[in-house]
Amino acid sequence: MLRTYFNQKAATWDATIAEKDTGKLERMAQRLEIKPGSVVLDVGTGTGVFLPFILRRTGDGGRVVALDIAEEMLHMARAKGFDGHVEYVQADVCSLPLLGGIFDAVVCYSSFPHFQDKPRALGEVYRLLKQGGAVFICHTASRDAINGIHRSIPAVANDLIPDRSEMEAMLSGVGFNDVEISEGSDSYLASARKGRSGQAPPFVPRCG
Ligand SMILES: C[S@@+](CC[C@H](N)C(=O)[O-])C[C@H]1O[C@@H](n2cnc3c(N)ncnc32)[C@H](O)[C@@H]1O
Repeated sequence: MLRTYFNQKAATWDATIAEKDTGKLERMAQRLEIKPGSVVLDVGTGTGVFLPFILRRTGDGGRVVALDIAEEMLHMARAKGFDGHVEYVQADVCSLPLLGGIFDAVVCYSSFPHFQDKPRALGEVYRLLKQGGAVFICHTASRDAINGIHRSIPAVANDLIPDRSEMEAMLSGVGFNDVEISEGSDSYLASARKGRSGQAPPFVPRCG
């Protein structure tokens, strides 16, 4: 099972598989629309490789929830004692124990291919976002490179980044707007928004 696989990898993750090019990580973080003071969910945070780059953008007034299905990964992340407001949650993205409408942004850095039911995961992400909030599915390598690496590892051989049309259909299918997919030679970024940018939350009449 995938959780077991990532738990077994946790102790050696940073020394082996994790992205080590901090320039690439910083450039990717700069491309994400994360404002100071915002509340961000980092899904599949692992050992927290991308966390400091998110925390730098959210700043003192922001908050980050770092979520992963694998508790050993979270243990490694927590042990790093990152500066900033960060909480760790162990859960499957397909069934999140969190209230809806609370996040300004949801980041899936290097994790989306592993979600076993991608439409359901995106449905959960959509539920958790505020109106006007955005999801960012990103990698610091090309789609071909990521898919090639995964195909060569039996445990994750079917964990692939979908092609452009499938990804667009999946995001639109759960209700996202402003879907944009940018495929580079050493990066991948798909983004989409719940509602429209700057849109006020729906009017809810009060009783009494
Ligand atoms: C390839 S690792 C990337 C970790 C980290 N983002 C990094 O770049 O080093 C993918 C992570 O996603 C997590 N993951 C996989 N499926 C998940 C799910 N359904 N819900 C939450 N996390 C999941 C794994 O446990 C793992 O830590």
